[in-house]
Formats: sequence, C-alpha cells, structure tokens
Amino acid sequence: MDSNSPIGVFDSGLGGLTVLKALRRLLPNENFIFVGDCARAPYGGRTPEEITLFLKQFMEYFAQRDVKMAVCACNTMTSYGYPLVKDTTPFTLVPMNPSIVPAVKAAANKHIGVIATAATINKGLHKNTAAAIDKNIKVYGMPCPKFVPLIERGCIEGPEIEAAVKYYAKKFEDADIHALILGCTHYPIIRKVLAKYFGTDVALIDPAFETAKNAVDILRQKNLLNTQNHQGSLEICFSAQQKNTAEMAKLILGSDIPPITGVDLTIFAK
Ligand code: DGL
Repeated sequence: MDSNSPIGVFDSGLGGLTVLKALRRLLPNENFIFVGDCARAPYGGRTPEEITLFLKQFMEYFAQRDVKMAVCACNTMTSYGYPLVKDTTPFTLVPMNPSIVPAVKAAANKHIGVIATAATINKGLHKNTAAAIDKNIKVYGMPCPKFVPLIERGCIEGPEIEAAVKYYAKKFEDADIHALILGCTHYPIIRKVLAKYFGTDVALIDPAFETAKNAVDILRQKNLLNTQNHQGSLEICFSAQQKNTAEMAKLILGSDIPPITGVDLTIFAK
C-alpha cells in the first residue's frame, strides 16, 4: 500500500462534506477523493439491502481508484453495509464514530438525544454503542426524515427548515437531554438552526471530529500518513448535481473547491 495514495470519502450526498472538512483539517497533506451519491439520496428511508448494495458500489469504485483508505462519511451506511463489508476491502474502511463518549462528557445526567435517519435509528447504532459503554446512559433516538431532502436542495435557513427543526426539537421536550448527537452527517450543515431550537443547555455533538481522529490514528498505526510536504489535492464527484451543488459544497467546506466531476455508481456491484 502506497502512503501517497488518496483517501476516499463518501456519502449519499452533501452531508459527507462535513466529515471531509474535519479530515482535511487534521490531514492537510493528504489527497482526497470525495464521492456523493446525490442521484439516489436520501438513503435514510431505504431498505438494508439497498443501502448495502450502494456501499458495495462505493467500495468497487474506490478499489478502482487505488485508495489507501476510505472513510464512510455516512451513519446510514455505517449502520447497514459496513459490518458486512469491513473485512473484504483492499483498503481500510473507516466507519462513522457514534461519539457517545463526548456526548456523555457533555451530559452530566447521562441523557443523550440522537437525531439521525430512520435507518440509523432503527439499527440502534448509538443505542447499542451506549449500552456497551455504560448501562445507565439513556439514549433518546429520533428519526428526522424531513431534514436531508431540504438540505440536499440547499434549504439550510429560513422558515421551512426552522419549522422542521422545531417539529423534532419539540419531541425531546420531556427527555431532559443535555447533549444531542448529530447522527447524520448532513445535520451539522444546519447546526445554527438546531442550536436555536435545542437551546444553550444542549451540547451539539458532531461525530465528524471523532471519526477524523480515528482515521488519523489508523493511518499512523499502519505507517500510511502521506509524506508529501505540500497541501494535498482534492477531487469532488457527485452522481447528480443541482444548480446550487457547487455553491453548497463551497459553503460546507469553507474553502474554494475544484470543478465538480460526475460519477456513475450503478455500473458497479449489482
Ligand atoms: N448523511 C447520511 C448519514 O449520515 C445519509 C443521509 C441520507 O441519505 O438519508 O446517515
């Protein structure tokens, strides 16, 4: 495995860019290939079989691109798919870190909220991880299917997204949560609106940071950190684009982006 090979980062759509941002901050010299499957997003309401198939298609794509590592910047594919393929890829596959530990640190009463896709909540990614850490942690999981379609079309502020956030925030009223895990990589994009409706007593936990740290640790352990002493390259591919996709990508990454290229994932695993 060549330490100068790129790192793949992938998601159903724009959300994974929040993880790419955290990765680039910790690993400025690495070359990244980001792939978002906007054509088939959202994944959150899909069947386990569909989600697993899509993940396998990403794996074939990245194998063809000779990556040294791929980061699954998607909690939905981490829930379904990842456990099945993790030992079959020619590169290391890094899942989303559920980030229970930082959430418990922020919540003295151990009451944690999780907002995520229906698939992630149904699989119990966060609930099961929390139970394995400490039986006294109370996890309140809430599927939020309204969010991803709005975020994908760039609706990240204004009355429509505010109404959706308000709707879900209300459901936590009696839970007395002190930390909220943003269990879908799209949600940090609407962090400001979430902060407004969940209030200052609730710490918002973005699992991108723990995930990026895991990726760094693995690269270090495997002696795969890129040795080039200049800024790494960036490639961004989407399976479909809307008018504002480039603008959204730039906003999320907080930096200039290269011209976006297309990708067809449906030619891989059937
Ligand atoms: N961003 C993804 C996640 O973290 C998937 C969102 C979706 O496509 O529904 O789960």
